[in-house]
Amino acid sequence: MRLDKFLAESSIGRRKEVRIYIKEGKVKVNGQAVTEPAVEIEENSDVIEYLGKVVEYTGKVYYMFNKPAGCITAREDAVHKTVFDFFADLKMKGVFHVGRLDKDTEGLLLLTNDGAFEHKLMYPEKHVEKTYFFWALGSLSEEDKKQLEQGIYIGKDEMPTKPAKIQVENCGIYKDLKDETAAKELCKIDLNHYNQPVVSGYLTISEGRKHQVKRMLKAVGCYVVYLKRVSVGELLLDESLEKGQYRPLTEVEILNLLGQCE
Ligand code: URA
Repeated sequence: MRLDKFLAESSIGRRKEVRIYIKEGKVKVNGQAVTEPAVEIEENSDVIEYLGKVVEYTGKVYYMFNKPAGCITAREDAVHKTVFDFFADLKMKGVFHVGRLDKDTEGLLLLTNDGAFEHKLMYPEKHVEKTYFFWALGSLSEEDKKQLEQGIYIGKDEMPTKPAKIQVENCGIYKDLKDETAAKELCKIDLNHYNQPVVSGYLTISEGRKHQVKRMLKAVGCYVVYLKRVSVGELLLDESLEKGQYRPLTEVEILNLLGQCE
């Protein structure tokens, strides 16, 4: 196996980062500094050191994380908690998040050290669908739904969105809704909005533009107050994970995700 691949798959850094570490002379193979990233090593018998510490080969890792609201999708931040703070027990240096969720968005976030996996899921031409559950202030007419389904302008100098799927779950006046209590808890709607029309449902998109779901719903007059990603491709958020918990993906889940985007 190539030395740079070995290091990336041992969560030392992304492939391009570990190449720099190697060129900077930070890596030794069997006690000798090696500065060529493509050098072949034997992962079962060679001793690889990074900054003087023996590197244990972990292989590729894939995690499903149930992101809570209130933390940002970033490696580190001076002010806010980040998603990586929830993985404090693991070696995560070379692990990165696949796409981003806003600070106030909850739900399914994938993390991996496999750049090809990230690329396959994020590449717009692959059309991997992501489904979000939302609560919003406002209402959705048949015409609004049609616009969301067909593609809608959400920003100056931007192409219309790609076709999406919309499924309304609940709509009505906030105070009249049957599951008002759940909505209240999720949406943190205050009493000033008690007589507001509200709507909840699922929006499925196959792109990843910034604040895309919020902007799409805004374009049809709805203001998102709660957002949760519930699936990526056919992978559903494992609802047995509490907010802030993670688990490794199973082999079948990984293969399914990769297979879907071929
Ligand atoms: N769309 C949004 O508006 N926010 C997210 O976090 C994800 C998709």
